Amino acid sequence: MSGGSVSANLSVRAQQLPCLQSIKRDRCILMMNRQTSTRHYSSVDQLLINADHALRTLFGRPQTTGRRNPAAGLVEANLRDDQRRHVARLMRINHAGEVCAQGLYQGQALTASLPETRTRMERSAREENDHLAWCEARLEELGDRKSLLNPLWYAGSFAIGAAAGLIGDQWSLGLVVETERQVENHLDEHLEQIPVQDEKSRTILEQMKIDEVRHAQVARATGGVDLPAPIRAAMKLASRIMTHAVYWI
Ligand SMILES: [Fe+2]
Ligand SMILES: [Fe+2]
Repeated sequence: MSGGSVSANLSVRAQQLPCLQSIKRDRCILMMNRQTSTRHYSSVDQLLINADHALRTLFGRPQTTGRRNPAAGLVEANLRDDQRRHVARLMRINHAGEVCAQGLYQGQALTASLPETRTRMERSAREENDHLAWCEARLEELGDRKSLLNPLWYAGSFAIGAAAGLIGDQWSLGLVVETERQVENHLDEHLEQIPVQDEKSRTILEQMKIDEVRHAQVARATGGVDLPAPIRAAMKLASRIMTHAVYWI
């Protein structure tokens, strides 16, 4: 059995234990992942793990923390067609952003030099999968589709994450800090545009914002440094181009 399957099975086992709920269960998963994160993977294992993760992110059901969708149980708003179309496109942008987050985290995990860095970012990466699942569910409810460009965003983000990890963990974590800051601003922009009666979409984005702020704090506390201003500006520009493309494609 490969190391990835061992890790996946341990996480599934932890989630199935009836006596372990919420925080206890999360701690258990983290502890089990710590045990497996020191395992040595061959190049073939790494390739298969990364391919599996990319396919799950793009076409399947990625592993989440098991948190409940915050919009579950809320009443569907009565939106006009143009409002529904606009909100759906905003949710498509948020979904594509979570695809990017997965690419980034997986690329970083591949090249991070300190095992502790990988372990500490695992919880954040898993929460990004919650966001991915919630955005996808909302997109389906709104009757729209995911971005056709998602494989491109994943590949690009994976390459950026891997390159940052090679340069050094402090820069790699700095990239997470800056990314999360920009995502937070961008979620605020979306919350301004989503009608107040659309509680489902708003509740998902509000929970995501809380999580993204914490991800930035974790990356900062783990050693992330401020990126140079030209890189921050380039990231903003790339984000603008991406969001405009995803709104339509
Ligand atoms: Fe996220
Ligand atoms: Fe995040």
